[in-house]
Amino acid sequence: KSVAIVGCPFRGGQAKLGVDHGPIHMVEAGLEQQLRDLGWEVRFDGHHQFEQISEENDPPIGKMKNPRFVSQVCKAVASVVSDHARRGQLPVVLGGDHSLAMGTIGGTLEVYPNACVIWVDAHADINTPETTESGNIHGMPVSFLLGIAGNEPEFAWVKPALRANRLVYIGLRDVDADEKRILRENGIKAFSMHEIDRHGIGKVVELALDAVNPNRDLPIHLSFDVDALDPTVAPSTGTPVRGGLTFREGHYICEAIHETGLLIALDLMEVNPGLADAESVRKTVSVGCSLVRAALGEALL
Ligand code: ARG
Ligand code: MN
Ligand code: MN
Ligand code: MN
Repeated sequence: KSVAIVGCPFRGGQAKLGVDHGPIHMVEAGLEQQLRDLGWEVRFDGHHQFEQISEENDPPIGKMKNPRFVSQVCKAVASVVSDHARRGQLPVVLGGDHSLAMGTIGGTLEVYPNACVIWVDAHADINTPETTESGNIHGMPVSFLLGIAGNEPEFAWVKPALRANRLVYIGLRDVDADEKRILRENGIKAFSMHEIDRHGIGKVVELALDAVNPNRDLPIHLSFDVDALDPTVAPSTGTPVRGGLTFREGHYICEAIHETGLLIALDLMEVNPGLADAESVRKTVSVGCSLVRAALGEALL
């Protein structure tokens, strides 16, 4: 029962300042000790340090912004995550922007090739370098992991290790037209806010697990973008979308995944303490920590 906190103060996958401070604030809020209090052995070796690549040295490739920087950081994160996983430590990766998932999920799949991914987000983050409108790579990591991003030499190291039938989304409500087409063409299961309204969160999590983990025997990587929560619950994030998960719905997802006993890696992404007022920042950092605790067993009586 051991976790490794991997703080990734990185913002190269999108344009807004501040998301690189997310992990620092979550650790300062006491996450390490909170997880120890749940009975976990916790390793935290300080925040991950990357070599910076300045914007002058990293011009766009096609529409992709900061491609070399994002690629290099994600590659390093993949190796840190896979090292922890190999040692039997559950990596808890704190972002930073969601482009990091290329590294976290890439790293997980090296060690657990049959792992499934539960992606909790307002967004599908499945644009390709061709379909992206923003050029922000945090909107693209899933396409790289699936191997549908095209042959971009800069990202040649990303193995197409994720199968479409091992990926499920919960919480979607802002999906670009091309992303909808990609989801459809690849038969990827997604539970939007509409399905949550219809069935309730309990049923949706069960259906999501049925889709990717029918026998409840495959390892689970949970990638949680804090913007899946409603902006009233998690206001300090770069791309908030109204109509999101309540505090309890977000926690329920984490608790239900904990209950499976199959969680082997967790990402908590897109907390941006640079956005909004001090009270909003406090709220968002605190809900970020609380989701991590829920995924690691806090609700157990
Ligand atoms: N679909 C938009 C884009 O591709 C928004 C992505 C937001 N992603 C995120 N990780 N918050 O730019
Ligand atoms: Mn700060
Ligand atoms: Mn998002
Ligand atoms: Mn995301």
